[in-house]
Amino acid sequence: MRVLKLLASLVALASASPAPGLSRNSEQWVEKRQAASAAYKAHTIDMPIDHFPSNPRYKPHPKGTFKQRYFFDSSYYKPGGPVFLYIGGETSGESRFSNLQTGIIQILMEAFNGLGVILENRYYGESYPFNTSTTDDLLYLTTEQTIADNEYFAKHATFPGVNGTLNAPQTPWVMYGGSLAGAQTAFTMKMYNKLFAGGIGSSATTQALLSYPYWYDPIIKYGPSDCVARIIGIVDKMDELIKKKNTKAIQKFKELFGLGDLKDIRDFAMTIAFPIGGPMNYPTNTWQELNWDFPRHGSEDFYDFCGNVTNLDAPEDIKSVDYALAKYTDGEPWTGLGGYTDYVKKTLIPQCESGRIDSTDPGCFGTQNKTYYADPTNGGARSYLYSTCSEQGAYQVAKAHGPSMISRVLQISYTQQWCTWAFPPGSHNTLPRTPELSQYNKYGGWNIQAPRLALIDGDADVWLDLCYHSNLAPSPRYSTDEHPSYLIAGGGHHWDSAGIKNVSAEPGYIKEAHLWQIRTVKKWVEGWGK
Ligand SMILES: *[C@@H]1O[C@H](CO)[C@@H](O)[C@H](O)[C@H]1NC(C)=O
Ligand SMILES: *[C@@H]1O[C@H](CO)[C@@H](O)[C@H](O)[C@H]1NC(C)=O
Ligand SMILES: *[C@@H]1O[C@H](CO)[C@@H](O)[C@H](O)[C@H]1NC(C)=O
Ligand SMILES: *[C@@H]1O[C@H](CO)[C@@H](O)[C@H](O)[C@H]1NC(C)=O
Ligand SMILES: *[C@@H]1O[C@H](CO)[C@@H](O)[C@H](O)[C@H]1NC(C)=O
Repeated sequence: MRVLKLLASLVALASASPAPGLSRNSEQWVEKRQAASAAYKAHTIDMPIDHFPSNPRYKPHPKGTFKQRYFFDSSYYKPGGPVFLYIGGETSGESRFSNLQTGIIQILMEAFNGLGVILENRYYGESYPFNTSTTDDLLYLTTEQTIADNEYFAKHATFPGVNGTLNAPQTPWVMYGGSLAGAQTAFTMKMYNKLFAGGIGSSATTQALLSYPYWYDPIIKYGPSDCVARIIGIVDKMDELIKKKNTKAIQKFKELFGLGDLKDIRDFAMTIAFPIGGPMNYPTNTWQELNWDFPRHGSEDFYDFCGNVTNLDAPEDIKSVDYALAKYTDGEPWTGLGGYTDYVKKTLIPQCESGRIDSTDPGCFGTQNKTYYADPTNGGARSYLYSTCSEQGAYQVAKAHGPSMISRVLQISYTQQWCTWAFPPGSHNTLPRTPELSQYNKYGGWNIQAPRLALIDGDADVWLDLCYHSNLAPSPRYSTDEHPSYLIAGGGHHWDSAGIKNVSAEPGYIKEAHLWQIRTVKKWVEGWGK
């Protein structure tokens, strides 16, 4: 299985192998590779573990601090310039370096003679308060504590080698975050508004929902339509066999993928959903990892997958697989199945090196292993799972009605079982039976607003429906001077994060978004303190 291990194995594999999607910010493999050659020195700040000594939620209130890492770039900085704080989110600081080098922070530093700094999220990278991540150790990984780190950091950060103190609010500080970090940016602006000159939340997932079937909607809407239709058709046929409890046919179906050993039908359903995006994790890249700046950012694995599913020129032995199960469907072929199974056999099966298909060995496909999940070793995937289970939800499930790209056996209970296994009750921390979404939604959800908070989204983003421009949002969306917002037509998951060190040479739809961001930030920085 990969939920807890692939991030770690990724580091070992270095640049060669694609990484798991696993979280909302999954340009990780590309960025890790770039990070290897980059050099920003790690600095640390002594951060209080508990910012809320009088809130009973955080008993027993450890008094200590932990070393929280940050990385800064002062190469564009001129005295009087602003500070751009990149919110680290659910990954290591190193995997965000490209944002200082060629991305949005580089663009802003250059435009305003600013200093750019990445603050690594607590419980990620090397910023762990404790040596292990037991349920009790994880009590201080909450949205509240995380955004309080941002406040503390803006007030107390030092920048060795840079002349003068640059703390907020004397110096204008502008935050930027993408995805979960975008939501944290928005929440920080809401709670600590007077301290910050501004904040941009990009694809900011400010709304928590328990289940999130909408993840697949942009793929159905904008993906290569013949590929989408074929997957939907195969999933329908599969679910029909499951409904009829035709175990013989289902076993044959599993074996066509090389996955005959997988006992739990949901593990099987998740595995064949990996190229599309399985619940919580996937080893190859999906629609979410496409990027306008490919190949410097992102991956086109998804198009390779679809190319296989729709290949009209595939060899006969592959095409004939479309008919292998026709006798169970009144002679109707499973169009595209040959390409689908061939792709899974070629790209996924070899990743399970031990050959124990139904195990949690690295790269393998079983998840029914409590011991594996209960391992309290520190790791980003474990921290992200904890936040999912405790506050964020958004379990990827199949829709109850209508077309689906993943089997309908994938429901809330499938993700929830991992939560239950991973985080048994501790002595002072017990997880609720399902995530306590109110801890996340109390900042406003889809309707969050704060002065000098800008929200930018992409309409082809799989996470769009948790963001300000969600199709589920209650009121019409439009931008005002006080509450600036922007929807990138054709944009994916925080696509404005990437840059090429020359805004005028970017594709028009990205260039315009960046120019809008520069204008927005200019108003904040010039207006600060006036
Ligand atoms: C955590 O690990 C470090 C380094 O191995 C060690 O020095 C420290 O004592 C450990 N802390 C606890 C609370 O076990
Ligand atoms: C540091 O800043 C102060 C005040 O702006 C200035 O007087 C001084 O010359 C600067 N020192 C260096 C080494 O730049
Ligand atoms: C099938 O997938 C492989 C592996 O990702 C890729 O190299 C190949 O181009 C794809 N084939 C087609 C016809 O798209
Ligand atoms: C279950 O997890 C444990 C601990 O990681 C591991 O040693 C064992 O091999 C796993 N078993 C299976 C069947 O995955
Ligand atoms: C930036 O791109 C524009 C448009 O392609 C080009 O004219 C200009 O020379 C580029 N500037 C730099 C510094 O490369």
